Amino acid sequence: MTSPIRTERDGNVLVIVSDNPPVNALGQAVRAGLADAIAKGLADPDIEAMVIRCDGQTFFAGADITEFGKPPQGPSLPQVLDRIEASDKPVVAAIHGTALGGGCELALACHYRLAVPKAKLGLPEVKLGLIPGAGGTQRLPRLVGAKAALPLVVLGNPISARDALDIGLLDLLTGDSSLEAEAIAFARSKAGQPVPRTSQGTANQDGVRDPAIFDEFRVTQGRAMRGLDAPNAAIAAVRAAAELPFAEGVKKERELFVGLMTGTQSKAMRHYFFAERAAQKIADLPADTPLLPIRAVGVIGAGTMGGGIAMNFLSAGIPVILLEMQQEALDRGTAVMRRNYEASAKRGRMTMAQVDAAMDLLTPTLDYADLADCDLVIEAVYENMDVKKQVFARLDEVTKPGAILASNTSYLSIDEIATATQRPGHVLGLHFFSPANVMKLLEVVRGAQTRGDVLATAMKLARTIGKVAAVSGVCAGFIGNRMLSKRQEQANKLIMEGASYWDVDDVLLEFGFPMGPFQMGDLAGLDIGWHRDPAKVTTVREALCAAGRFGQKAGKGFYDYDSARQRTPSDEVRAIIADFAAKAGHTQREVGKDEIRERLLYPMVNEGAKILDEKIAQRASDIDVVWINGYGWPIYTGGPMFWASTIGLETIVAGLDRHGLPVSDYLRKCAAEGRTFD
Ligand code: 3HC
Repeated sequence: MTSPIRTERDGNVLVIVSDNPPVNALGQAVRAGLADAIAKGLADPDIEAMVIRCDGQTFFAGADITEFGKPPQGPSLPQVLDRIEASDKPVVAAIHGTALGGGCELALACHYRLAVPKAKLGLPEVKLGLIPGAGGTQRLPRLVGAKAALPLVVLGNPISARDALDIGLLDLLTGDSSLEAEAIAFARSKAGQPVPRTSQGTANQDGVRDPAIFDEFRVTQGRAMRGLDAPNAAIAAVRAAAELPFAEGVKKERELFVGLMTGTQSKAMRHYFFAERAAQKIADLPADTPLLPIRAVGVIGAGTMGGGIAMNFLSAGIPVILLEMQQEALDRGTAVMRRNYEASAKRGRMTMAQVDAAMDLLTPTLDYADLADCDLVIEAVYENMDVKKQVFARLDEVTKPGAILASNTSYLSIDEIATATQRPGHVLGLHFFSPANVMKLLEVVRGAQTRGDVLATAMKLARTIGKVAAVSGVCAGFIGNRMLSKRQEQANKLIMEGASYWDVDDVLLEFGFPMGPFQMGDLAGLDIGWHRDPAKVTTVREALCAAGRFGQKAGKGFYDYDSARQRTPSDEVRAIIADFAAKAGHTQREVGKDEIRERLLYPMVNEGAKILDEKIAQRASDIDVVWINGYGWPIYTGGPMFWASTIGLETIVAGLDRHGLPVSDYLRKCAAEGRTFD
């Protein structure tokens, strides 16, 4: 087999080139090739300096994740990096694309680092439930200081080449197209000089002078780190870089790395990494399915949902025609969009020039005829089948042949909506999650007649606007809301049986969700969809509305809220629930947290199994993608289906049986066969 590493000579400089598509992952063959190439450069008396660069779209994007969990094959990455650093001939990293994880660590082991301005550098290992395991936590603080290293190692977000230059992670930015030539010239200029070794750097002394930076970081970033093991280990590793000699720090890093690698969180997060990528693939569509051009998008409805949807396209540079029925609603909607953009600018996420550029791409209108040239129209109107059908019939008349017509419905049948048009092949669901400009998930709903190119175009478009997409077939509530309804059903039953609603919320918080169902109701507003007749009370929710308890915005809903929006359980609500339970004939009893957790989560897994069996979802991991990105399921458990497999499907079945809840044939069969879902 030919090595993915080759060498090229440029006078006294040896250029070591990796060609390992798609992302130059540092698999065994790459590591072995690099070790050989460095040895070759060292052995050749005519070579005085070396450059390491990559072919293809990116510099090394990290260790090869597919090798994780398999028996290690030498040379290890730390061994290769130690050999690079030990070289007394200068080695220069020439970076384009993304230098991530082990790739960034490799750059740190080189004596100098150059990059094109568009490059990004980072240590995203925490996103895989890990910490850098090839000396990164020890070399980076010694190069840029513990304070600058902390966010990179602990939060895992890559930084731009410009920022990397500012903190001292890079030595030089090159021209866009002169990376290799500049790296060779730079290497040559350093030939014969003593090499700076990052492991001997002293910038980490800031962590010795001011050890409080570690605790401060833990406090300020507590929210981002909630429930996750890796960020705490990452802080411990950076702290070790400040307190221990390099060799001991590396030992500590390895200990932490190995502990995480064998733990459940990292397995779950690595599962998610591949799940997100698998979700983009549609089993019965060839990868080269031709795509339709999307040059202009129409959005119907300028409310919270429509406005949020429109912002996704504007931010991606795609013009939007926004249609409303009334001028006032249109003005209000566009003003909210501008305000949202300006808030992002205030937080430094975009410039005012970018705000103006995005808003310049927006054309508000009251006239359907203005949608004539759109390649895609998404409706975000009232959730009612008759209304949706009227809108689609109208769209069918006014839009050009071949335009895609999408509904943002969260429950309704796309197949029935499509019957209102003459182009059912061009109809599909694009289910955004609120706030639509923020939430990552896009459920792409494939109707019975949706064409392959239409579906493929929607999946590509999702990536263009920065969403994580998963395909769902047609059923009430699709993947996400169909499973959510099972959880909500149990939450409502549990409080009738005597569980306190705050215990229900707390069980989910403790599991890792950002909030529970009753908190969520308060946040969204309990009066959404309320009939507004205080005399007509048939549910707890209606009783709360009748008592003016509309949720957080009213200062009271299920909970009472103080001025800082801190919640406290309410005696009034407790009494309302007890009254309802008595009228419904429920004797209330103590319900423990284990029962609450099982009754909330196991029925979701059961519904997920049915969704798989009915082929509504293509694969179990797609369901995980939906729940992690759309509903706050904690990523470190891998999503509902991976979590169920982790705790054992037989445990789920036994729990459902114990609570007298339905078990689908498919789930029972998988459990009986000792299988996992995928
Ligand atoms: N190992 C193995 N395969 C990888 C990989 C890796 N590190 N990174 C990406 N791939 C694969 C993907 O699974 C995908 O495969 P597929 O086509 O079969 O689905 C293919 O490469 C292309 O990836 P993307 O679809 O993600 O391509 P993009 O162009 O959108 O993004 C990227 C490129 C930004 C490099 C992105 O792939 C990425 O973020 N990769 C992971 C980076 C990372 O986490 N690195 C750290 C690894 S852990 C480590 O280094 C440990 C060390 O400290 C010892």
